[in-house]
This record gives sequence, C-alpha cells and structure tokens, in this order.
Amino acid sequence: MKKTFLFVALAIFSLMGKVRADEGMWLPMFVERLNYVDMQKMGLQLTPEELYSINNSSLKDAIVGLSTGATPRGFFCTGEIVSKHGLLFTNHHCGYSDIQKLSTVEHDYLTDGFWAKDFSEELPVGGTSASFLVRMEDVTEQVLSVVNDTMDWAQRNRAIREKAKELEAAASEDGKYNPIISSFFEGNEYYMFVYQVYTDVRLVGTPPSSVGKFGGDTDNWMWPRHTGDFSIFRVYGDADGNPAPYSPDNKPITPKHHLPISLDGIQKDDYTMIWGFPGSTERYMTSYGIDYNVDTFYPIIHEIFKLQTDIMDEFMQKDAAVNIMYADDKAGLANTWKNFEGQMLMLRKNKVAETKAELENQFTEWVDSDKTRTEEYGEVLNTLKENYALVSELSENIYYPNYLAMTGAIGIAGEFAAYVDIDKKDKEAVAAAEEALKAIDVDAFFAETYKPLEDKMLVEMLKLYYNTFNAEANPDFYNLVEKKYKGDVVALANDILENSIFATPESIKAFIEKPNAKKIEKDPAYVVMNIMINHLMSGLAPYRMAMQTIDENNHLFVKGLREFYAETQPEKSLYPDANSSMRMSYGSVQDYQPADAIHYDYICTANGIMEKYVPGDYEFDVPQRLLDLIEARDFGQYADENGELVVCFLSTNDITGGNSGSPIMNSKGELIGLAFDGNWEAMSGDVNFEPKLQRTINVDARYVLFIIDKYAGATNLIEELTIVKSEPATEELTVEN
Ligand code: ARG
Repeated sequence: MKKTFLFVALAIFSLMGKVRADEGMWLPMFVERLNYVDMQKMGLQLTPEELYSINNSSLKDAIVGLSTGATPRGFFCTGEIVSKHGLLFTNHHCGYSDIQKLSTVEHDYLTDGFWAKDFSEELPVGGTSASFLVRMEDVTEQVLSVVNDTMDWAQRNRAIREKAKELEAAASEDGKYNPIISSFFEGNEYYMFVYQVYTDVRLVGTPPSSVGKFGGDTDNWMWPRHTGDFSIFRVYGDADGNPAPYSPDNKPITPKHHLPISLDGIQKDDYTMIWGFPGSTERYMTSYGIDYNVDTFYPIIHEIFKLQTDIMDEFMQKDAAVNIMYADDKAGLANTWKNFEGQMLMLRKNKVAETKAELENQFTEWVDSDKTRTEEYGEVLNTLKENYALVSELSENIYYPNYLAMTGAIGIAGEFAAYVDIDKKDKEAVAAAEEALKAIDVDAFFAETYKPLEDKMLVEMLKLYYNTFNAEANPDFYNLVEKKYKGDVVALANDILENSIFATPESIKAFIEKPNAKKIEKDPAYVVMNIMINHLMSGLAPYRMAMQTIDENNHLFVKGLREFYAETQPEKSLYPDANSSMRMSYGSVQDYQPADAIHYDYICTANGIMEKYVPGDYEFDVPQRLLDLIEARDFGQYADENGELVVCFLSTNDITGGNSGSPIMNSKGELIGLAFDGNWEAMSGDVNFEPKLQRTINVDARYVLFIIDKYAGATNLIEELTIVKSEPATEELTVEN
C-alpha cells in the first residue's frame, strides 16, 4: 500500500534528518570551511555564496543589528529585512522601549498596538539604529603586532585599543562605513566588522502588549509560550539609499536582500537556522567563575532587581500613565532577575561547575605532563580560583552600596559632591562652581518618575541595605542609623523624604539660588551618599584589580585550552563566545523532555491562548478581537494542516540575548519565525550548551502574519511582503487510500 510506503519513506527521512542539537554560534565568513558540509547534511539547500558573500547579495544582507545611538556596538537585538522597501521585523520586546517612548495615555501603543496605513503614518523613533554588515575580516595579526612580552595586561590592552582605532579609521573610507574591531577567544583573536549604520528607523506596526507580551514575566524564559513577540519597523535613508539623519525627505531603503516568508509551516526534525547578533556567552568560563556567579553575584543582583520590580509593578498596575513611564525599565529588571534565578537553579541542577571542573582536571593533567606547558599554564587555574575568591569577598560591599547610592535623592545628592569638595577660600573656583550649579537641569532628574513610587523605592532600598550590610565593614552607616535614628532605618528614609534638599525639584532649585556647602554636608541624603561612596571606594580598587587579573588569566586559560583541544581532539572545531558580532546557528525543530515523565511538544497553538486567558489580568488578558477570531477558528491561510493556528515553536538552535528578533529560517533561507527566548530548563546554557534540554523559542511566522492580516487588518503590509508557499509535494500528498 502506498500509505505504508509513505510512512517508511518518512521514517527514513526523519532518521537521516535526525540531527544532534546544535551547539555553536558560528562566524558566517567561515561557513564554507567549518560548517557547510554539516549544514547541507542537515538539509540546507543554499550555497555558501548565497549565505555569505561580500561581492553579491546574500542572506547576510537581510540581517540587521539594532543598537542605541549611531555606533554598531552592543546590539541589543536583531532584526531582519522582509521587503524591498526596507521593512524590518524584530521582537515586540526589542521594539518595546521605542513603543513606550511613542506612547501617551491618549495614544497608548503599548496597550492598544499601532498600525501605519502608509509610509506617511510611520513614526520616527530616534535613538534606535539599524546596522548592516558589509564585510568582516581577520585582523588578528595586525592587532597583535603591537603587543610584546614586556607589556603588562593593562599596557597590552591599551596598545591593542590604539591599533584597533587606527585600523578602524582606515577602513571607514572617510566616514562611509562604521568599522568595529572585536576581541575573540578572550583576546586571542581579533576581527573587524565593517557596517553601514542607518539612524532613521520608524515604527510601522506593533500588536498590543496583550499579544506581543502575552504571558508577561510569568511566562518569560519558559515554554510553552503563547506570545506574538514581534514588531515592525522600516529603515530609511537619503535619496541615494545611504544612511542619513532623520528627515521627512528620506526614503525607505532598497535592501540588497530581503527574506521571503514561508507559509509551509514546520515539522519535527526540519532544518532551521538562525542568524543574528548574540550578545555574550561564557562557554569557556571556569568552575570558579560559575561558583562566584551562583553563590555571590547572581543572588545579590537578583535580590535588588526583584525588589525594584515588585515596587514598580505595584504602582504600574494602578495607573496607566505610571505603567507607560516605567514599562521598559521594569521589563529589563524583571528579565534580568528571572534570568539569574533560572541560572542559579539550572547551573546547579545541570551540574555545570562539575562539568567544567572535570575539563579543568584534564587540562591540568595535560599541563603537568610537559615542562613548557607547566611554565606557561601551571598557575592559571589557581590564580583564577584565588581572584574569584577575592571578588566574592568584596562583592556585597560593592553592589549593595552601588545601587543604593543611585537611588532617588541619594543619587541626586551625588551630583553635588563636586561643589562640596571645592576649596571655599578659592573665590574663583567657588564662583565657577556656583555657575555650574545653575546649569544643572534639575527637572531632568525627576522627568518620567512618579513620586510615590520613587519614595517607596528609597525606603525599601534603605531597608534592604540595612538588613544585609555588615556593620563592621561599614561602621559609618551603622553609627548613623543607631545613633541618629535610634536603629530605625525607616526614620532615616523619612528624614530624607521630608527634609532633604534633594527630595523635590523645588527644594533643589531654591537651594541652587542660594547654595551653601555646609547645608549639603548636613543633608541626610548627602550623608548617606557620602558614606556609601566612601565605603564602595574602599573595596573598588582591590575589586577592579582582581577582575583585571581574572580577565588576564581567562585569556591565558583559553589560549591553553585551544592548544589542549588541538592536541587532544583535533577534529573538534571551537567557536568563539558571543560578542555582538554576526553569527549563524543551525539545528532543527525539536521537542524535549523537561523532567522525568514530562514531554514538551515542539509547537503550541491558539488553543493555549484560550487556556491561559484571564479576563482583565495584567499578563494574561486577551484582546476581544483575537478572542473572536480564535473562537470562530478564523485563521485563514495561516492555519496548519490540522486547521490549528500555531503560535510558537521550538528549535535546537544555539542563541542568547541579542539574538532576540533574529530570523529563524528553513532550508531555503525563508523566514519561518522569529527567535525570542530561551527555555527555563537550560538557563545555564550561556555557560554550557545542553543538547537534550536547550531550545530556542520562536514565534511562528504564520502567527505573525495572522496578527498583521486577520487581527489588525494591515493588508498594506501583507501585500508588501514576499509570502511563499511550496506546491504540495505531489506524489506523497496525492496518495489515495
Ligand atoms: N527573555 C527574553 C530575552 O531576554 C525577553 C522577553 C521579554 N519579555 C518579558 N516578559 N520581560 O530575550
């Protein structure tokens, strides 16, 4: 029977297609040498030239790094070009800050969404830029030519920075390009990336947060996920298509390449690749680094950020204006503390430090077996261990006071320290300092802040510090609270809120009119600021010193590790840690087993939106129009073969923060979704890739199009896109029973 044949054929195919979960964020310029054979085996149908070419248009030309300002450094997200008029898709959480800035209570695009009907309605965002990679090249030799053995670590880095600047300037072709040189393998290799940076980027469309951020922070970092995490922008340039500052005369650019969007959908084992700008991973971190993060660094930051988010949340839910004001800050803090919580749990659970310790033992054996190796690497692990121990000891005394010193009136008081410090006998200096005070933009300190929220933040941050600090390490703070406020830290907080010059814009302005250094010195916010800064400074020098030593020895360790691998496992290709440069990752659509007896499917559907729906809830409300469409099962051409609307799906691609918004593509280089998150069980993944557990969470392209088309009725956008659907695979699909 034909059907049996079909079944067998599929089974064989899926065996062949069965790929290992794919670790590695690879540099596209080496695709032919390192990855192509593998990618082809896994199903890729494009040629290396079609992927990465510096002469012809190729897939890389549709991949865009998003950054703040005009520098192509530290891309916070990735976008992809999806039309010949420079239309760009990215995640909703990537556009979030711009959407927030454009929102008011009257035009609340965060809550209601936004859809431009034509170019004229598109909203300039200002601040976010889109970088296109022109080419990349290995500049290791040139960069390291300035380094010699007599230099210490700081001198070496200074020399490298200068050389890099010189090479970047030479490659800029008088400002036409924006080249960046980045370090790879902990300063063992250097590459130059030449970009064109477009600063006129405009908002074209976004779903409401109840779609784009559905599930909120409760679902964040977790599967299953039912989030339509996308937003749409457009890149504008001058009449010749070159980067230009915003002008109403600018035109949408004509990109070298744009991605077609596939309606074919996905099946388990399908080939997938993700291109983008992953920000940072620490795959070569030692067990000592992991222990430091898990036991010391993450718990501190987790505690501070969680406290701050909870306070924001409380006020945001009560007031639409406050909600808009703090939306982006809160999302960032919540995203970080939940990430750290996951990392603390999963680094332990997945025994990552143990895995690394095992590697370190093998490395040590290899080092010990040879005299020259011992000379070079004999101390490296011990030095790392000692210095991590040192930063561990110092961290509490750095991070808590650091964040407290940035809080509300205490933070503002810091701006006046320079005035207090000048020599009052130097009349000229005093006059100049008073002028400088008058130039302070006082309102800027209070812009976009909500006093009741800020006041509570100050009280709670002081309480947190008081409850965690070590009285012996910071006797000044201990004495202040015990003596002046009888051990009542809330009384100190209230004194600041009621009596500090720095608590309100009015009192600061009045003070600037008649400044008086003595008054500042007695001010309770200033007193606390001063104690915190002095305390922090006492630990900062040794902390920085230890961090620098860690840096230096990580460099040495990775150098040794590469030699170790080259000699012991020559077949293994190493990939560099993520560093905001363009990478590709390939893998396949896969389910996973998060725990014993639990199986997670690789897709989720609109049915799950209905299951999670909580009317009126801050995170799980669903817009009426979407409810209606789902209830009517009106999914149009976006339904899958079973009539279901797939919302998100999982793949084995290796990604991290910065990849958000990245295109996930099929074997033909067509868009099948947007990567937007990692999964809880593999939160340790930035340090060690977990093939069985680690998945990328993608929003399905069909759900994106469904929202644009059926939900928003933005047919102008649908028409602009290149939507493709394969002919039904004839033979197999036409079999009769
Ligand atoms: N976890 C996602 C990332 O880091 C960000 C998701 C934003 N959503 C949220 N609920 N905060 O890429």
